[in-house]
Amino acid sequence: MYQSDALKGETILVTGGGTGLGRAMVERFAAVGARVAVLGRREGPLQETVEAVREAGGKAAWASADVRSPEELAAAIDGIEAELGPLTGLVNNAAGNFLACSEDLSPNAFDAVVQIVLYGTFHTTLDVGRRWIERGGGGSILNILTTYAWMGSPFVLPSAAAKAGVMAMMRSLAVEWATYGIRNNGIAPGPFPTEGAFSRLMPPGMVEEAKQAIPVRRFGEPQELADLAVYLMSPAASYITGETVVIDGGEWLHNGQEFSRFTDPPREKVKGMLSALKPKK
Ligand code: COA
Repeated sequence: MYQSDALKGETILVTGGGTGLGRAMVERFAAVGARVAVLGRREGPLQETVEAVREAGGKAAWASADVRSPEELAAAIDGIEAELGPLTGLVNNAAGNFLACSEDLSPNAFDAVVQIVLYGTFHTTLDVGRRWIERGGGGSILNILTTYAWMGSPFVLPSAAAKAGVMAMMRSLAVEWATYGIRNNGIAPGPFPTEGAFSRLMPPGMVEEAKQAIPVRRFGEPQELADLAVYLMSPAASYITGETVVIDGGEWLHNGQEFSRFTDPPREKVKGMLSALKPKK
């Protein structure tokens, strides 16, 4: 849906870019002309992603680092910039999450998720943002959030708290760093069937029920999120900052709306129910 040069001249780092939605974004960015870099803890998936991009004719680099460590990040980003040139874009995609009853969480369990999602996003944003401020050329940051960043969610308390924090950070910096030409946006996905997310968040018996809670009755395709990310990272979106775009087939509105359960039965049955309520003349 894009011209093949929609991201020409851009050099974009995606944290956690070796797998899942991160990899989908990386491959799509490269296909429309960006140089791409991936950073994460496991070398295998990072190498595989970079090889796939290179085989398709793109330019790519990888570096291993834990987003919880500012020192590891700085060294990794130095290496990436030495190989690809200065970054112009950053996607904060690396995340950690699991389902658990909140009363059973240890301090370490809370810390494990919040350190990756909130602190990791802070460390990466600050490292890259300082480089851009020093150089004066601006840049674009995209944060992968979640629809429960607004209202919270049971059983994922550390993630909900951390993602809400990332959203606040994103909005704060959209205003504070606009003067440096740095944009800061978010994408809030609903359920996308990637291995990393579904193995942790979707018990096998819940799949059909989860689809029923989505008005369009299907999960998202990673490619659909990647296409949205291309737009937000491209110069075409240069007037958009501080914004979060939801991509969830209408799921979160459905979950919050008083009469949304009326969309579950066949429409003819609903019409029958509604006409039974109509006062008789
Ligand atoms: N339920 C409750 N507690 C859990 C848990 C679960 N499913 N999984 C891990 N924990 C707890 C551990 O018990 C430990 O606490 P303890 O020391 O008090 O026992 C703490 O979390 C840290 O676990 P550890 O495995 O050492 O942390 P880690 O930093 O290596 O891993 C995770 C972080 C737990 C988030 C891990 O799942 C991860 O690295 N995920 C990355 C990818 C990901 O989650 N993607 C999903 C995106 S939607």
